[in-house]
Amino acid sequence: MLFTTIPAFTFLLTSLATLSAAAPTLDVRQVNARSWSEPEEKYYHAVGDRVARFVRTANFPAPPACNIENAPMNRGALPPPSPGLVLSHVVVGRGTQNFTCDTTNASAIPVQVGAVATLFNSSCIAGLYPELLSLMPPVAIRHAKPADADGLAPSNLWLSGHHFFTAGGVPFFSLNSRNGDYGQVGCKKDGATPAPDPKNVPWLKMSTAHLDGIEATYSEVYRLNTVGGQPPETCAGQKDHIEVEYAAEYWFWKSK
Ligand SMILES: *[C@@H]1O[C@H](CO)[C@@H](O)[C@H](O)[C@H]1NC(C)=O
Ligand SMILES: *[C@@H]1O[C@H](CO)[C@@H](O)[C@H](O)[C@H]1NC(C)=O
Ligand SMILES: *[C@@H]1O[C@H](CO)[C@@H](O)[C@H](O)[C@H]1NC(C)=O
Repeated sequence: MLFTTIPAFTFLLTSLATLSAAAPTLDVRQVNARSWSEPEEKYYHAVGDRVARFVRTANFPAPPACNIENAPMNRGALPPPSPGLVLSHVVVGRGTQNFTCDTTNASAIPVQVGAVATLFNSSCIAGLYPELLSLMPPVAIRHAKPADADGLAPSNLWLSGHHFFTAGGVPFFSLNSRNGDYGQVGCKKDGATPAPDPKNVPWLKMSTAHLDGIEATYSEVYRLNTVGGQPPETCAGQKDHIEVEYAAEYWFWKSK
């Protein structure tokens, strides 16, 4: 459903919505309340460009297939996926990185204790509209953390699952939701590289961590295009539990 007071977008976005369920659409209810930030402006212009190109070149054909295997993954300085793996799922995650602080020591450094994020199926966007995918985390961070029932504002991406840390401190991805079961994986960090802007959490390459009784669906997972998530430099003036908002792309690779 589109509620828009911006007529130029109504037609364009409705066309895009009919193109594919994966097409990001604009829910103007979320953004009318204030003027657009630079990330939002970039995102909406890219949506507009994409639709304009589609309208010029296509006669409203059947939706294109969502083949994600060749989706371009910008991994920065991280090593490539291991040979024999194929890209199988892509999500935008939106949540918090959690830290604890020793409040008795102003020069203490926050310690990471976990992360919690809701993950949204971005596989089709990664395959079909990669230039839009890369603009989504900077917009997602400006919207409230989504509830499971919501899509990822301001698009209508579907829920894929959740990211959290296990009781034993293992980063875990459960890609199982009412929209389908795309598997699960516990991870360990294999490589990290600072985000292009170091005020965002580093980009990571992760591989499977063995967890008793859990069969991992994926061999390698990348955290890329991060926004936010960095703790304060010291615990001065902090509470004992700190949550820092973040958004990121996660790319899931599995054996052929
Ligand atoms: C959801 O993910 C699956 C697996 O990657 C993919 O085949 C499907 O097209 C995705 N759906 C959307 C709407 O992106
Ligand atoms: C306070 O934290 C700093 C930085 O971690 C550490 O070097 C120092 O020993 C700590 N002081 C106390 C009293 O724990
Ligand atoms: C982190 O923050 C979330 C959101 O408030 C919370 O549910 C979770 O228990 C926190 N702690 C850890 C260790 O993930």
